[in-house]
Order: sequence, then structure tokens, then C-alpha cells
Amino acid sequence: MYAVLCLNWIGLCELASPEKEFMRKALITGITGQDGSYLSEFLLAKGYEVHGIIRRASTFNTGRLDDIYADPHELGARLHLHYGDLTEGTCLRRILEAVQPDEIYNLAAQSHVRVSFEQSEYTGDVVATGTLRLLEAVRDHGRAGHKDVRFYQAGSSEMFGAAKPPQSETTPFYPRSPYAVAKVAAHWYAVNYREAWGMFVTNGILFNHESPRRGETFVTRKITRALTRISLGLQKKLYLGNLDALRDWGYAGDYVEAMWLMLQQPSPDDFVVATGESHSVREFLEAAAAELGLDWTGCVDTDPRYFRPTEVDYLRGDSSKARAKLGWRPAVSFRELVSMMVAHDLEMARQERTLLAAGHRHSVHGASMT
Ligand code: NAP
Ligand code: GDD
Repeated sequence: MYAVLCLNWIGLCELASPEKEFMRKALITGITGQDGSYLSEFLLAKGYEVHGIIRRASTFNTGRLDDIYADPHELGARLHLHYGDLTEGTCLRRILEAVQPDEIYNLAAQSHVRVSFEQSEYTGDVVATGTLRLLEAVRDHGRAGHKDVRFYQAGSSEMFGAAKPPQSETTPFYPRSPYAVAKVAAHWYAVNYREAWGMFVTNGILFNHESPRRGETFVTRKITRALTRISLGLQKKLYLGNLDALRDWGYAGDYVEAMWLMLQQPSPDDFVVATGESHSVREFLEAAAAELGLDWTGCVDTDPRYFRPTEVDYLRGDSSKARAKLGWRPAVSFRELVSMMVAHDLEMARQERTLLAAGHRHSVHGASMT
């Protein structure tokens, strides 16, 4: 909340200091999302000046950045936020001109697969054409004589869709949702700009990655939020869709390191980032319930509205290229991930219960939407 109140352009107008001239600058689209927040922390720790594009919203959308945000009036503030949107090329160009980044991480997306079936045009506009707008802006930026920019494109294992596992960089794409189709388009725009204009553009093809900061309508977080609330008597039922889908789930904090490593390579390339291990939604449910000593069978029901018109049944990544070339490997195991998410959400539920006991009204909003 504090971050938005302080949002302004002061960061761009600060006088240059000698240290600042050597400080590497990163521009992140989608900085307010799960990955944007972890990546910002990671880059700030590496000494970067971090700029992020945020959307104007009628409610605060910077909650994930609150811990790292500093008032730009403060001396040495290295995180700066700019209003913008991937649906508008003009603002992207202006921000690029003002920031002059060394690296761009294009993480912004309407990233919910189920929602993309309802808002397919918008998803295509942000995910596919939004990436194209940004690539065009970077291309012109370079042609205007500015320093070269390294570009990371947030690709997704959803692009593999119905392709047989294990999926690697050489597996043909078979997208199964408007979101996945748009990500495939963005992937190929990125490849084309690399080949046509010699730009440093790298595609990360990341398999599912989760954390306590995961959006609450994605299945893992939906489960950990609901089961922890159920265990404290704050909720009775959890409604889910397909429990048989298999996902290769890793920890978001590990995956942002891979993004950065990709942009430190001598040349641009495409990399799959995955744990190589898959679990079903049911297994995630069982593991989360076991953490809480809860029998989930009585409190979980199926609701057909959470099924997808076309499902992705089985994702399991082969990240041997990233492991060999980037030296990357995941540090957090599936069990540790579940445990971390349950512990976080149990604490949230405890706080909620304390507030309720003290007479406060508390509402959990929107959780039944997706
Ligand atoms: P997320 O939590 O949903 O965050 C998405 C971000 O994009 C948010 O900051 C959101 O802003 C922003 N955004 C949405 N529409 C925008 C627009 N029109 N203009 C500018 N910004 C916009 O997603 P995430 O999990 O961090 O994922 C980051 C990226 O990686 C996404 O591109 C996603 O598709 C991709 N990806 C994710 C995973 C995964 O498992 N997490 C796996 C593979 C690929 P608001 O906060 O204002 O909504
Ligand atoms: N969201 C949700 N809600 N999914 C459910 C539910 C439910 O109630 N019940 C079952 N599922 C199943 C979905 O059908 C899907 O097979 C699986 O759980 C995972 O769904 P999500 O957590 O929504 O993630 P996703 O795999 O569709 O997409 C995520 O990962 C992609 C990478 O593979 C998103 O982060 C995408 O942006 C990302 O690209």
C-alpha cells in the first residue's frame, strides 16, 4: 500500500552519482506479481537499480513489494515504479527512454489459464501483442543508438500442452488454451527478433513455480489457503476441478535465479527450467493435508466450473540444458515447498482467527472465482 502512495517519477530525475553510473539497471514488467517480487529482491541483493512497470488499479496492487519498497525521496532508493501497461506501446517507449535499462524481464501477463478461456482477446493482447510492443520498443531503442538491452521473455510449460513428457527445448509446442497459444506467439516473436535484428532475447520456458506469494486462485495456493482455514474452523469446504492433472512444481525463489543467469550468458538462447518431478493435484492436496494432520476427503468437493475446456494433463520438464549451461538447479523440494506454503497460510489463518475473536469482521474475497 505504502509503495503506491509514494509512487512518482522522482527516481528518474535524480542526479547521477558516480556509483549510479556503474550500477546495472533492470526493468521488470509484471513486478507486482509473484515472480516480479522475488526477482526484484534477487536483483536488489545483487546491487541492481530496479525499475518496475505497474498498472493503475482502483485497489492497491503492490502488496508483494511492500517489504522492499523505499520512498524514492530517500537517499539510495534503488527500486522505482512507473505506471504503464503492456497494452500501450507509447508508455513502454517512454519508460524505456527514461530508464535506459541494461536488462528487461518481461513477466507481465494475464497469467491465469482458466481465465484465458473467458478473456481470450485480452489475454492475446497482453501476452502476445504486449510482448511484440515491448520488443518493437527495444528494437527502436537500440536503433536510436542507446546501449544494447538484454531481454528475458517469460515463456511457459503450458506451451507444451498436450506434448508427451518429459518436455525439453526440442519438444514441439501443442498449446491447449488461449493463454498458451499467446505464449507460443510471444516465444516465436522473441526468437524472430533475435534472428532478424540480432537482439539479445532469451526465452525462459518455466514449469509451474509456487510460493507463499502465489496468487490465491492458482491451485496450490487455493489448497493451502483453504486447508489451513478449514483446520482452524474458518471455512468448511474447498471446491476444486481436475485432481488428476500432473504438474512439475518448483519454488519461485529458485526460478528467478535462472532468469537472471540466462541474461548473464555470452549469447541469447532458450532454456527449460523445471524440477524434473511431477505430482498430481491430488498429491499436492494430500501432502498439504498431511502437514496439518487433516483428513481432506470430507471437506473437498468437485465443482465442474473449475474444469477447463481443454486440459493439460501431464507436465514434467527436462531441464538438463539449464543445469549444464547455467549451472542452475532447484534448491527447494516438493515437500519443502508444500510445507513452506502451509506454514505461511496457517499463520495467516491464525491472524484471521485472532482478529475475529477480537470482534473484527474479515472477508476472504474472490476465492471462489477460479
Ligand atoms: P502473476 O503473479 O499473475 O503476475 C502477473 C503480473 O503481470 C502482475 O504484476 C500483473 O499486474 C501484471 N500484468 C497483468 N496484465 C498486465 C498488463 N496488461 N500490463 C502490465 N502488467 C500486467 O504471474 P507470475 O506467476 O508472477 O508469472 C510471471 C510470468 O511468468 C507471467 O508472464 C506468467 O505467465 C509466466 N509464467 C509463470 C509460471 C508460474 O508457474 N508462476 C510458469 C511459467 C510462466 P497486477 O498485479 O496489476 O495484476
Ligand atoms: N486454478 C485452479 N483452480 N486449478 C485447478 C483447480 C482449481 O480449483 N482444480 C484443479 N485444478 C487443476 C487445473 O485444471 C490444472 O490442471 C492444475 O490444477 C494447475 O492449475 P493452476 O494452478 O491454475 O496452474 P496452471 O498449470 O494452469 O498454470 C500455471 O502454470 C503455468 C506453467 O505451466 C500458471 O502460473 C501459468 O501462468 C503458467 O504459465
